[in-house]
Amino acid sequence: MKLKGKKVLITGGNSGIGLATAKLFIEEGAEVAITGRDQKTLDEAVQLLGPKAKAYRADVTDSAARKVLFAAITKDFGHLDIVFANAGVAGQTKAGSTDEATFEDIIRINLTGAFLTVESALPILKDGSSIIFNGSVIGTLGQSGYAAYAASKAGLRGLSRSLAADLAPRGIRVNVVSPGPIKTPIWGRTGRSPEETGELAKLIAATIPLGRLGEPEELAKAVLFLASDDSSYVNAIESFVDGGATGTPFGGPAFRQ
Ligand SMILES: NC(=O)c1ccc[n+]([C@@H]2O[C@H](COP(=O)([O-])OP(=O)(O)OC[C@H]3O[C@@H](n4cnc5c(N)ncnc54)[C@H](OP(=O)(O)O)[C@@H]3O)[C@@H](O)[C@H]2O)c1
Repeated sequence: MKLKGKKVLITGGNSGIGLATAKLFIEEGAEVAITGRDQKTLDEAVQLLGPKAKAYRADVTDSAARKVLFAAITKDFGHLDIVFANAGVAGQTKAGSTDEATFEDIIRINLTGAFLTVESALPILKDGSSIIFNGSVIGTLGQSGYAAYAASKAGLRGLSRSLAADLAPRGIRVNVVSPGPIKTPIWGRTGRSPEETGELAKLIAATIPLGRLGEPEELAKAVLFLASDDSSYVNAIESFVDGGATGTPFGGPAFRQ
């Protein structure tokens, strides 16, 4: 077991990548605090994860809720060894038709919320802990309609490197995992119909060197590596888990003669 006795916080642990990671971490011996906004999926997640999981309803943008959350985690867990700042949204902000509130909401959830989560965790994070942010290939690869999302994810890369320097004296490692397209409920939250989502997924898969979308469990394994002692000398990196999309963007089936 790679995480025996470790205490973990996963924001957005009631869905997709966060939930798959919570499941794997518990199998590896951890106790996990998961957060999210939707009480129904939080309850369902705890049901699935069992007694090693505790769920807390907290919006990462709500500072009062964050205070209550960390008071509860301190009481229930005592300390933390690992934080996976994973909660995020993928709203669209097309140039020419985006209002200020829409742009700022995405930044506030994906970037400010992730930073403030870590900031709130620091007093109870043990020396030698591991922090992982969930970035995205879109923080590197341009995609039409995603300026705020791209900025938020590129921002995580930048802030993680500063934090790694801030926290190095305590032996706390800070890394980013950056997924390519992964099959999670985030695709259904875009306002597209299931048919449109299916078509888009097919198009995107054709551009991925491995020719398919990723599974949340494949992301969870990469997060486990960054969270565990297996990565004890890995610090301030961005690890792409994207089927090769970033490294060889013309390697997918769509580009083969
Ligand atoms: N799936 C992909 O293709 C992909 C690719 C690159 C990066 N990512 C990143 O992976 C992370 C997880 O996404 P996912 O694909 O697993 O999608 P998902 O299934 O939609 O999960 C998103 C999670 O974030 C939580 N969340 C969103 N806004 C929140 C807020 N304001 N406060 C607290 N929790 C909030 C959601 O909780 P509630 O439902 O309770 O609100 C949910 O648990 C995100 O940061 C996303 O940007 C995903």
